[in-house]
Amino acid sequence: MIGRRAAGRHSGPEPDGSDETSPVILELTGVTRVHGEGERRVVALREADLAVRLGELVAVMGPSGSGKSTLLNLAGGLDTPSSGEVRLGRDVLSALDATGRAALRRRRVGYVFQDLNLIPALTAVENVALPRELDGVAVREARREARSALAEVGVVELAERFPEEMSGGQQQRVAIARALVGPRRLVLADEPTGALDSHTGETIMRVLRQRVDAGAAGLLVTHDPRFAAWADRTVYLRDGVVVDADRDDRASDLLVGARSGRSGSSTDDLGD
Ligand SMILES: Nc1ncnc2c1ncn2[C@@H]1O[C@H](COP(=O)(O)OP(=O)(O)O)[C@@H](O)[C@H]1O
Ligand SMILES: [Mg+2]
Repeated sequence: MIGRRAAGRHSGPEPDGSDETSPVILELTGVTRVHGEGERRVVALREADLAVRLGELVAVMGPSGSGKSTLLNLAGGLDTPSSGEVRLGRDVLSALDATGRAALRRRRVGYVFQDLNLIPALTAVENVALPRELDGVAVREARREARSALAEVGVVELAERFPEEMSGGQQQRVAIARALVGPRRLVLADEPTGALDSHTGETIMRVLRQRVDAGAAGLLVTHDPRFAAWADRTVYLRDGVVVDADRDDRASDLLVGARSGRSGSSTDDLGD
């Protein structure tokens, strides 16, 4: 669905987002994912097409069971399609073996899981540094990058704390920092604002927005139109089908208020 956005409300490049010449970092072409067989057969995603460019933050919305997590898992190479093709940059994921996919994912994709998946025995800075260390970055450098990512989400002072010593909102920020650490440029977030109060949710959206504007890309599952309003466009799923991959004018009209807050106050609330 690339190409439609520029034809809409904007003409020419966006001041801080992507334009039609930004490289496509993620592309799904005719992607179908089927689970089970016979009576248990479920088509979790059907013939999905989606392209995300650097500089774009794309929201994914749809009812429970509509295929949102499936889409994200396929985009990040955590799952493989039954048919169709997923590309990360120039790499076709299905052309790689599991080890190759894992390496690519570690280098390029930051994933914020619905249940966060922080490792309880590691401190915040250790959790965030882990993917970099796994990727061969020296411990000292990985920790430096981790602190920088923690600072980006406003919780560097929690670096030495363990997950159980943090609030839910603080843990959420650490999980986001882990997704942003290092040079990774595609952030996939499955309801990162799920259990958060709207204040903390806004803070997280601001961080994602800033990172994307600085040259990354994001795909974000959310149920909340206020958070989707931070995205450049919204992809709607219903029963595994992308029903609308355009910016929804009804939604954006409703959400002008929320969106305008994005570059307004820079006072990062720390109230978790
Ligand atoms: N591993 C699986 N095995 C069988 N069915 C699955 C599996 N994962 C997802 N599904 C089914 O695929 C559909 C889409 O699931 P999901 O992508 O998790 O939806 P959402 O994230 O929008 O709630 C649902 O009907 C779900 O039950
Ligand atoms: Mg889900």
